[in-house]
Formats: sequence, structure tokens, C-alpha cells
Amino acid sequence: MTTRRRFLKSAGIGLGAFAALRPLRAADAEVEVNPAQPGVQINPHIYGHFIEHLGGVIYDGIWVGRNAKIANVDGIRKQFVDDMKRIATPNLRWPGGCFADGYHWRDGIGAPGKRPRTYNYWENRMPKGLHAVESNQFGIHEFMRLCRLVGAEPYVAANVGSGTPQEFHDWVSYCNAPAGTISLADERAANGDKAPFNVKYWGVGNESWGCGGNMTGGEYATEYRKYISQFPAYLQPFWVATGPRGHSADGDVGWTEGFFAGLQNVRGLGVRVDGFALHYYTDFRQTAEDGAKFDEKGWYAVLHKGIHIEKVMNDHWSIMGKYDPQHRTKFVIDEWGNWYRGGTELGPEYILSQTMTLRDALHTAMTFDIFNRHAEKIEMANVAQTINCLHSLFAAAGDKYARTPAYYVFEMYRPHMGGQSVPLKISLPEMTVPILEGTAKIPGLSGSASLRDKNLTVTLTNPSLKESVSTRIRLSGGARLREGRATVLTHDDMRATNSFERPDEVKLAALSVEAAGDSATLTIPKQAVVAVSLQLA
Ligand code: AHR
Repeated sequence: MTTRRRFLKSAGIGLGAFAALRPLRAADAEVEVNPAQPGVQINPHIYGHFIEHLGGVIYDGIWVGRNAKIANVDGIRKQFVDDMKRIATPNLRWPGGCFADGYHWRDGIGAPGKRPRTYNYWENRMPKGLHAVESNQFGIHEFMRLCRLVGAEPYVAANVGSGTPQEFHDWVSYCNAPAGTISLADERAANGDKAPFNVKYWGVGNESWGCGGNMTGGEYATEYRKYISQFPAYLQPFWVATGPRGHSADGDVGWTEGFFAGLQNVRGLGVRVDGFALHYYTDFRQTAEDGAKFDEKGWYAVLHKGIHIEKVMNDHWSIMGKYDPQHRTKFVIDEWGNWYRGGTELGPEYILSQTMTLRDALHTAMTFDIFNRHAEKIEMANVAQTINCLHSLFAAAGDKYARTPAYYVFEMYRPHMGGQSVPLKISLPEMTVPILEGTAKIPGLSGSASLRDKNLTVTLTNPSLKESVSTRIRLSGGARLREGRATVLTHDDMRATNSFERPDEVKLAALSVEAAGDSATLTIPKQAVVAVSLQLA
């Protein structure tokens, strides 16, 4: 049972009835926003993506092949391209993940028929009798084609764990050297791309504390220095250093201390770290928690653990501030999402895929609200992973395809991209909720706000499985409202999902909002995410 007190209840609301709510008499929650005092810009890259050569992510999920019967653009699944455009995908991180530190980029260029079949890191996770043979049909040219189709900026994770600085630098030159200059640029042109790819974001390895080399923070600092010192400078790069395993019991603060300490007192040209790759999985692998079948405790446990990312960010940010008081280094949260124990895969070879439900959509929204509220700390974030994997927006197998409930949150939050973050104050008591072991407190309502020109976007999540929240959004600072609109994502069943058979089970609906003077009022259904768009006069 939740302990939140209700002043007003709207009973018996079905999905189709949101527009017919009775006028509100009083509000349970007050949300105060001051659009006259906007903060920093929310980097659009916060709404970024991650795709890896893992299970069914690249092959089948994205790459169906040029001769496939499935609608495709040069071998890339067309529906995927269309949907990624629809959410204004800002970037794509590739080729891994753990795959990246075993990947040799030359295997993925040249005539497709002549590319080698190679070992894939994920072989050890494949069920008996199935193999993760890397066909190398999707290499840097295909990746760049995908980025261009979608309108996304490439973010390439380079091989530090089993590669060399030279291999890394050659890849950078192959991507970025101007046409007709060095031989690697000629080779790129011969392979179909005369114009440079101009890749700015480079990951210097991935999870170097684990599959990327089993290093300590100090050891990695030494490698990092080597990998960046002779970096080919065709354009100003944005270097992303491996950050902590934020979902560790202690938040992995030792990694951050060790890495930044290892960069101190270095003579010479100075060492720049543009981005620091924090990973945070809402990790239930060691529990019985299932992606599809769960109860009230599981619902709240996932939301509770999900919002712990805020503390993890704050802890690492303060360590980074000791070494970098100006905070030149920003977070690149290049892997985040829910990770259940397994058992709901799309099929045996689709390793790490899992069912996504309404619960994951609320988790997504609460995570984005945290990111928006900490916009000054974050350059980029990448959901892990976009299709056929852990916290996915899409599921695809052959000609079957569905958007998951999480996809719709990306659609709802799109207006935040590039907006100026606006502080908001929510007055509603915390809820005491059951989790897997005991109880915990979570916010009764969480949210974020941003401003673009005269359009104020307020996103709010009501995590309660029991009660709706009548809400009044009040503008301080003298602003007045011209009009308001809202969309809602919810379902009567907390476990609702979009399957291949019922792909539209969870989808967006319009929600009634009354906007006048300095206030907008609406009722947020239980277990729901709401995006309110307010036009200022
Ligand atoms: O996203 C799945 C895996 O999780 C990635 O390959 C790795 O970086 C992380 O441990």
C-alpha cells in the first residue's frame, strides 16, 4: 500500500476517457516552474543511442541485407530508419560495448563478399549449438550510411583492450582525412565514400575495468594518455574516457579517483578528457526479477533503483570536481537502462533481448527527468541498447516489428532536446512503497521542464499503482499561459507490453489540460507519464 494522501480522486478512468475528466476542485500536487529563469541548454545528445554487434541488435534488428524481402534502404531496415528519424535521433554509439575492444575495423571494409568472418566477444553467451560469428557485413561505411539516413552524429568506440594506438589512429584517419590527401583517404574513397566521415566523438575503449582490458583506473589513465597523444587532428575530437561501473555496490568511486589521479602531474602537452563514460544499469541480473512477469514490489523496485542514478552522478561529479574544478569534463552516460535476469528473449540467438513493459517506460521517463535536471553535467547519454537488446525501443525479428513502451517516451520527450532546462519544484509527499526487500521511498511525482522560445514543456511521472494525481502547474515570475496540450502514456495493466501480435497495446493518448492565467491543471492517471506543452503568452 502506498501512503500518499489524496485530496481528490478521479475514479474509474479508462484509456479512452482521458479527455472527459471533471474540472478539478483542488490539486494534490503543485508544480512550480519559473520560465523567466531558464538554466543551461539540454544537450540533444542526452537522447542518444547505442547499438552493438550483439545477438539480434545489428544483424536482423538493423541490418537485414540488401537482398532482403523486408523493406530496407541499402540493407538497413527501413522501419527502423523511419522511427529513428521520428524521434530525431541525435547520435548512435557503435560498435560496442564489449564487442568494441575485440573489433578490428579493417575487417568491416572492402567488398562485402571478401570480408572475413571473425570471432565475436558474445560467443560465450550464445546458447549451445549457436554461434556469434561476425560476418562483418556491417562495418564503418554501413554505420555511416545509417547515421546519415537517420540524421545522427556518429560516436565510435575504439579498441583499446586488444588493439593498438596505431590501429586506432589509422581508423581515425580513414574516417576523417580529407579526400585526396593520405592513402587511407584514397582507400575510403575506393570503398565508396570520398567525403570524410568527420567523426568527432571517439570512445577511448569501453569498460576498461572489465571486458575492455581488466585495468585499474590508474592503469587505464596510462593507456588513455598513450591513445590520445598522437591522435590524428583532422578535426577537434571529443574524447570519451572509460568511466565507472556506476551500478556497482559502492558506485565504483575508486575507478574515478584512480583515473583522474593517474592523469595528474604529467609533463608535456596536457591531457584533455572531454567526456567521462558513466555506465549505470538498473541491474536485476542477480535477482529473480523478470522483465515481463512482476508484481507491485517488482514495479517499485525497478523505479527505485533506476532513480539511484542521480546519487551516482552526484558522487562522481564531486570527485571529478576535485581534479577539474571548472568541470570541463562532462558525463557521457553511454550505457543506461534496465537489465533483468533473462528468460524473455525474442529467441535463443537474440541474447540479452528482453520484454519491455509500461514499467520500463516509466523508468525511462524518470531517468530522462534526472538527466534534464542535471543538464549542466551531461554531454551525451546512450540508451542500452536501441533494438533487440536490454532497454530497447524496438523489437524486430524477420518481418515482425514492434515499438516498445519506452519508444514512446523518446517521442514525448523530444521537445526537451535543445531546450533550456527550467528548474521546477514539486510539492507532493514522497511515497513509501514495497520493494523486493522491505520498503523504500520514491517521489510521489517526478518531472522536469524546459523552454524553447515560448514553448514550455513539463514532463511528469506518477509512479503510483493505485492513485491518480490532480496536478496544478503554476508559473512563477509573472509568466502567463496562452494554451496547453498534453499527451499521456499509460495502461490499466502495469505489465502491458507491445508484442508482435499486439504492437499498439501501449501507445500515446491525448490528455485533457486546462490552461489559463498562470496555471495549468490536469489529472495524471496512476502509472503514467505525461508530457505537457504550454504556450506562453
Ligand atoms: O549492453 C550490453 C553490455 O553491457 C555492453 O556490451 C557492455 O559494455 C556492458 O557491460
